[in-house]
Amino acid sequence: MTKDADDPAGMRKGLVNYGDAGFSLFLRKAFIKGSGLTDHALDRPVIGITDTGSGYNPCHGNMPQLLEAVQRGIMLAGGLPVKFPTISIGESFAAPTSMYLRNLMSMDTEEMLRAQPMDAVVLIGGCDKTVPAQLMGAASAGLPAIQLITGSMLTGSHRGEVVGACTDCRRYWARFRAEDIDAQEIADVNDQLVPSVGTCSVMGTASTMACVAEALGMTVPGGATPPAVTADRMRVAELTGSTVVQMAKSRLGIDRILTDKAFENAMRVLLAIGGSTNAIVHLTAIAGRMGFEVDLKALDRMGRETPVLVDLKPSGEHYMEHFHAAGGMATLLRELKPLLHLDALTVTGRTLGEELERARPSFPQDVVRPRGNPIYPQGGIAVLQGNLAPGGAIIKQSAADPKLMEHEGRAVVFEGLEDLARRIDSDDLDVNADDVLVLKNIGPKGAPGMPEAGYIPLPRKLARQGVKDMVRISDGRMSGTAFGTIVLHVTPESAVGGPLALVRNGDRIRLSVDAREIALLVSDEELARRAQEQPVQVPRADRGYRKLFLETVTQADKGVDFDFLAAPQVRGRVPRT
Ligand code: FES
Repeated sequence: MTKDADDPAGMRKGLVNYGDAGFSLFLRKAFIKGSGLTDHALDRPVIGITDTGSGYNPCHGNMPQLLEAVQRGIMLAGGLPVKFPTISIGESFAAPTSMYLRNLMSMDTEEMLRAQPMDAVVLIGGCDKTVPAQLMGAASAGLPAIQLITGSMLTGSHRGEVVGACTDCRRYWARFRAEDIDAQEIADVNDQLVPSVGTCSVMGTASTMACVAEALGMTVPGGATPPAVTADRMRVAELTGSTVVQMAKSRLGIDRILTDKAFENAMRVLLAIGGSTNAIVHLTAIAGRMGFEVDLKALDRMGRETPVLVDLKPSGEHYMEHFHAAGGMATLLRELKPLLHLDALTVTGRTLGEELERARPSFPQDVVRPRGNPIYPQGGIAVLQGNLAPGGAIIKQSAADPKLMEHEGRAVVFEGLEDLARRIDSDDLDVNADDVLVLKNIGPKGAPGMPEAGYIPLPRKLARQGVKDMVRISDGRMSGTAFGTIVLHVTPESAVGGPLALVRNGDRIRLSVDAREIALLVSDEELARRAQEQPVQVPRADRGYRKLFLETVTQADKGVDFDFLAAPQVRGRVPRT
């Protein structure tokens, strides 16, 4: 052994407790040498790499190529790569909802980062919940960490039309439900919507979190947008490998990157890309791990002065590969420059402003609009308040029908997912296009896991009549790829006795996006009477992860994290505007 066993670096970190540190290191080295490594290799900075490849996660389907490129970058820069598995979560494969497992993945990531010897780590994630889980875990673990995004899938082509997951999945399915297309066409398009491995090709949650991760300073410059199967993506992976070695050498901890300024930059970008509403929940959870609370009212104020500039579905027209071809995040960040904290540090050890100076020059393109000619004049997401949501609710106004944003209607209530499935397509359902669909019990504890069921399908009989949108309200989430006038994340949720639980068929509900209001037009006395009539029964479980989840999960305004995982002390609120 060439170094003292007390040196807290590389394989000398975090020795197993045998009561004799020298023996612990001796044993560890003996075992790792079993894979053919030399002392020379073991003296290098040790870089852990999370391998989140899984047959159940096609969004991570380029993992073998990414791992090879990252390892190459690490070795070229003089580090020793050590890959290790963590759980992986694929959106359409994890029941009851991927969100139910996000915190488990964050705990897996945090504890494996703590338990195993490494000087820094590369987090490889892509599908919706994986990047948030990894950032949450790494934020809590505290060591130098860099995010590598798997990258978006390519677009497909269906009967001459460009299609991509998953905005077009929903659009075609809605057309099928409305009997606008037949079984043959829905089968044909099913082959084209996901034409390669990688994450959804629109500005859904995965793409949003990729952009957010870059805005946080957690990826190498340009790390958000290259599609999964491109050479650009592999170059990003190699650069990630060489960059993380420098981070390990300079001990650039995650606490110097995930600052209040970084979170404000990320929120600014989230608003300007017309990003997924889910990212608010994830950013809240990541910030919570660093000791920051998210101020939803301040976020809304920030939204009023941040236009949507990126023309991607579901708010606009294009797909991620087009955003990448338009210069990716550098093009957007340049446009947002006056609104950003350019002195925020990134994983390269340089500031965001310095990286923008080094980025390739701008060129004419039609995906990222100038601030003077936005897609939407305000940020994509508005925060609502009112007696129906005392803890707040949100709406993706950039993907909503402008005609419905000031609306009052009669409530048509569904008590939960089973009730919805049973009645939504019934010809007997008493519903009109002007009504407001209300779905209860899909919040963090209600479903559980706050599933993406807030995109309540339009009643079939209305869809057949050509109705394309209605005001819909729930305590759940919706996919970032969805569109419509949909109020989400109503807090507190109905399962813990929030006012949403008290809504009854026929009540009047008023939505005013302009006034940022969601109001149940029922008197306080009547609501108090109803609350007495229907005592709350908070969901419980007897054992296992479900018990932990139901007993400790927080509401949407706290990030749906487990209460014991947030930082023990609050350092401040973000954004500070
Ligand atoms: Fe994985 Fe959309 S399903 S990113």
